[in-house]
Amino acid sequence: TGLVAFDPSFGSTASCRSSITYIDGDAGVLLYRGYPIEALAERSTYLEVAYLLLFGELPSAAQLRTFVHDITYHTMVHEQISRFYGAFPKDSHPMAVLLGVVGALSAFYPDSTDVFDEDQRLISVYRLLAKMPTIAAMAHKNSIGQPFVYPLNRLEYSENFLHMMFSVPAEPYEMNPVFAKALNALLIIQADHEQNASTSTVRTVGSSRANPFACIAAGIASLWGPLHGGANEAVLTMLQEIGTRERIPEFIAKAKDRNDPFRLMGFGHRVYRSYDPRAKVMQKICDELLSELGDGDDPLLALARDLEKSVLADDYFAERKLYPNVDYYSGIVMRALNIPTAMFTPIFAVARTAGWLAQWTEMIQDPEQRISRPRQLYTGPLRRDYVPLDQRP
Ligand code: CMC
Repeated sequence: TGLVAFDPSFGSTASCRSSITYIDGDAGVLLYRGYPIEALAERSTYLEVAYLLLFGELPSAAQLRTFVHDITYHTMVHEQISRFYGAFPKDSHPMAVLLGVVGALSAFYPDSTDVFDEDQRLISVYRLLAKMPTIAAMAHKNSIGQPFVYPLNRLEYSENFLHMMFSVPAEPYEMNPVFAKALNALLIIQADHEQNASTSTVRTVGSSRANPFACIAAGIASLWGPLHGGANEAVLTMLQEIGTRERIPEFIAKAKDRNDPFRLMGFGHRVYRSYDPRAKVMQKICDELLSELGDGDDPLLALARDLEKSVLADDYFAERKLYPNVDYYSGIVMRALNIPTAMFTPIFAVARTAGWLAQWTEMIQDPEQRISRPRQLYTGPLRRDYVPLDQRP
């Protein structure tokens, strides 16, 4: 094994070259193709950022028009797909449904298998970007027993998603621009984060030349876990458990107690040792939303702000450089948008689709790319003589 370096979970091995996303964890910097996410979240639409991630440059007005047109052309799903939903148990987690339905898209688009054909690749990318919100919103509607709402292509991407989530046949969703802006920013800040677990999964699956629908389904599977995309759900569950302002000191004490495994969800990050730049953007959006809603509307939102204040004023957290991470505020923002907790991770998947597709495209075009094939340090027994069944102890 002398030739094999041991690097569990590839903590210090670069698996690829990439020109898409740059992170400086000490300085709290996150750039997409060189552009700070703060500027993108404030001034761009999600589809503009998807274009940037995919093609490397911000689009001109004409390029954006064409791109938006091409994406919206594909927002509907084949009517046969809607029948899958009825076959899932009615209380299925929407991530389970999303995973199954996106995987099934491979069967509908057999023209996606030649991954070296640029036209085929592009149409698969467009189909996935376009259909993810539709499929996710359908999972939500199915879980609450309401009829599916078809995409409305004159709406902007985030507006359309809110429409598909919340409209009912008798009453279209009344669009609130502050809500649409908040969702747009949320999608942008979660659109890519270089070689995280789900993105590495997409690249690994894609390295065997599997079709892009299968690759994105694999990314969804990886994102589902509570250590990855599932953390935003955990934040809300924790806030519900804390319940009232008076109990904050008790939970902070629990989090500081070395003999207690409890951690405050939504605080701390492996890479960011200063403020998570995505959390800062979400904090601003959260303030805008709260002033739109009126502070008193949701006691959990007020509780979240109180908890953050107490944490930031506490030496234990300051010494360990523990700040709110993206999941703390994204959960709160989605709650303010009336999005049910079970949809938090599916929405993360919708957002991350742009990054997954950009990284998959970069991987396929990379002449250095080979099938992903990690090595191991074998720790089992060496060669042994076979013992017949009747002679085993
Ligand atoms: N609450 C209380 N103490 C904490 C917390 C927390 N949330 N996070 C870290 N610590 C303490 C930890 O006990 C340790 O203390 P000591 O040095 O006294 O032993 C110190 O801070 C360093 O922690 P670590 O475990 O070495 O840090 P890590 O890089 O291994 O873990 C983390 C990072 C995100 C897993 C961790 O901070 C955590 O569990 N946070 C809560 C869960 C969470 O919010 N996860 C979502 C992260 S963002 C995901 C994404 O970007 O997609």
